[in-house]
Amino acid sequence: MPTANGFLTKLTQKESFFPLSVGFCPNCFMVQLLETVPPQKMFHDDYQYLSSTSQRMIKHFEGHATEIIERISGKKNPFVVELGCNDGVMLLHLAKRGIAHLGVEPSANVAKLAKAKGVKTKVVFFNAESAREIVREQGQADIICGANVFCHIEDLNSVFEGIRILLKDDGILFMEDPYMLDIINKTSFDQIYDEHVYYFSGLSVSELGKRHGLQLVEMAPQRVHGGSMRYYLKKYLPGNKMAENVVQLLEKEKASSLNTPEGYRFFKHNVDSICSNLKNTLKKFKSQGHRIVGYGATAKSTTLLNYAKIGGDLIEYICDTTPNKVNKFTPGTHIPIKPYDVFAKDSVSYALLLAWNHEDEILQKEEAYRKRGGKFILYFPEVAIE
Ligand code: SAH
Ligand code: TYD
Repeated sequence: MPTANGFLTKLTQKESFFPLSVGFCPNCFMVQLLETVPPQKMFHDDYQYLSSTSQRMIKHFEGHATEIIERISGKKNPFVVELGCNDGVMLLHLAKRGIAHLGVEPSANVAKLAKAKGVKTKVVFFNAESAREIVREQGQADIICGANVFCHIEDLNSVFEGIRILLKDDGILFMEDPYMLDIINKTSFDQIYDEHVYYFSGLSVSELGKRHGLQLVEMAPQRVHGGSMRYYLKKYLPGNKMAENVVQLLEKEKASSLNTPEGYRFFKHNVDSICSNLKNTLKKFKSQGHRIVGYGATAKSTTLLNYAKIGGDLIEYICDTTPNKVNKFTPGTHIPIKPYDVFAKDSVSYALLLAWNHEDEILQKEEAYRKRGGKFILYFPEVAIE
């Protein structure tokens, strides 16, 4: 597979490929990539993903900020640290209220956008060493949070060591990532790509926490990115206990065999079935003379398009609203990426919804396209036309 966000400026550009394979550990229940790409190759001063491109995610992170503000109310001079703050989508709400905060963000281009919103940021990879530095400069944190970032970091042990160092004894860690049970239930295999090293469940997060003196105390399912989970962890202190819903969710995960290889056996079969159905559907529409484009040049789509071998012969172009992605080509499959306006003015019959995790928002936004007969092709949990 090529790197998921490795969009090409020119077709002559050299691409790097790596084997994308996933393993399960029966001892700590972690599901993770077996080979990884060095973080410096993925997170740098030209990182492509911007959190604020989706209205839904902007709202989601406003809600996240509200929850954090509620949790620190009554605390004297609270300090909140966010790992992977990206363009400041969440922390800007704390900055606006004058709450002491710090965004830790190694991708300099997105950190710059956060700074422009008044968000204090430190351009560094979070790990035990940078945690010590933050404590020296600003003291310990009441809340450490991170969304869609823990799953990106190979050296989780150093991150959790850093959290032990940075978190106050009565502090809370908020950790939000795509949820393994949703990936399994929906067969959303395109969540698997180089940047996503880990695919967490309550079972694996609980074990991970234990190894670092942190207890999983709460879990809150989130309806974003196709099904995510927000995990809350605290340092072991007398009186801390697991909320009842955590006990129930862990039982549900065990009932789905996420603690044994059995839970994962049918996954490949389901993946292959979706890919062949999708490809046949695209070929059928094409042979009927229809034009098909892609909607949203997501990182996820790199896995789908390369695994299912869907290229420019089936998909004419992909539209995307991210300025950094337009006029580039998709990694491995080399489909041109066009600005959204091209799609808005076009008259194609079918759009493959590659940004399927934003389905509600996009279907609502594209009422005009659908009213004039334009259709969306969906593929999770099965191929469907909307
Ligand atoms: N939290 C945002 C961004 C997720 S993308 C959201 O949910 O929309 C992941 C972000 O984590 C990227 O901006 C990337 O640069 C950052 N990141 C990667 N490794 C990191 C590390 N070791 N420490 C802190 N941030 C990291
Ligand atoms: P996303 O699915 O959030 O993440 P990932 O790249 O990690 O798989 O990316 C959404 C992409 O879809 C992003 O490139 C912006 C694009 N997009 C649009 O073009 N239009 C839209 O209305 C929305 C919501 C997203």
